Amino acid sequence: MKIKLATSYGFCFGVKRAIKIAENTQNASTIGPLIHNNEEINRLRENFNVKTLHDISEASGVEKAIIRTHGIPKNDLETLVQSNVEVINATCPYVTKPQEICEKMSKEGYEIVIFGDANHPEVKGVESYAIHGAHVIQSVDELADVKFKRSKIAVVSQTTRKVSEFLEITSYLITHYKEVRVFNTICNATFENQDAARELAKEADVVVVIGGKNSSNTKQLHSICKEYCPDSFLVESEKDLDPSWFEGKMLCGVTAGASTPDWIIEKIIGKISEIKV
Ligand code: F3S
Repeated sequence: MKIKLATSYGFCFGVKRAIKIAENTQNASTIGPLIHNNEEINRLRENFNVKTLHDISEASGVEKAIIRTHGIPKNDLETLVQSNVEVINATCPYVTKPQEICEKMSKEGYEIVIFGDANHPEVKGVESYAIHGAHVIQSVDELADVKFKRSKIAVVSQTTRKVSEFLEITSYLITHYKEVRVFNTICNATFENQDAARELAKEADVVVVIGGKNSSNTKQLHSICKEYCPDSFLVESEKDLDPSWFEGKMLCGVTAGASTPDWIIEKIIGKISEIKV
């Protein structure tokens, strides 16, 4: 039986990059969790002495601070720099982009609209770069209540939002206001994993989807795979593998949810390849 990995799976580019930075830095603290995966955060603490602080108030006396993938508010970053902490920035470049746009466009006199969740750390960070503040909205309906003071509007999106909803918001703005600058800051990583899983499931006769059973994006991957390959199974660890799934199969596809580290994936692939079919 051949084993084939999806062309895109598991951690996104920004998360992989942040983990590499943390591993290379060692003996440092992150302001807030580096990424949303506890197993990986524990591994970084145990193997690389990378600790997690709740927020900036715990950073006094820290030598090296790593900024997480979602970024932090501008003021917090400045406080860290001023307090002689060595700052290592692991903010995902796709998050830095809307931060820069907000700063630049608000300096140029544009009123800023952010499509996203005001309580999400990424959005809090992006909003902090808008010099005169920003309107954070979750849906097009909320826009009707926004009182704009300027005639120039710039709009960005939280990286994980749906393009279709962003289009509704930008269409509304364009039809109601004379000057609207639209910046598509949506990141495709999640959708890339889904597209790749679909392609893989079409050709495989058994698919193993690796990830947390409570992880919504893993469950979504599993249901996509099941649509094209009924013998698709969700596993959290190698213990969940059942040899009978692979009997008489020719091609086993493997994919993983966005919060699954490579080392778990490798371990499971190793186990699958040991199964006699
Ligand atoms: Fe990942 Fe960066 Fe996109 S952290 S989901 S690549 S915004």
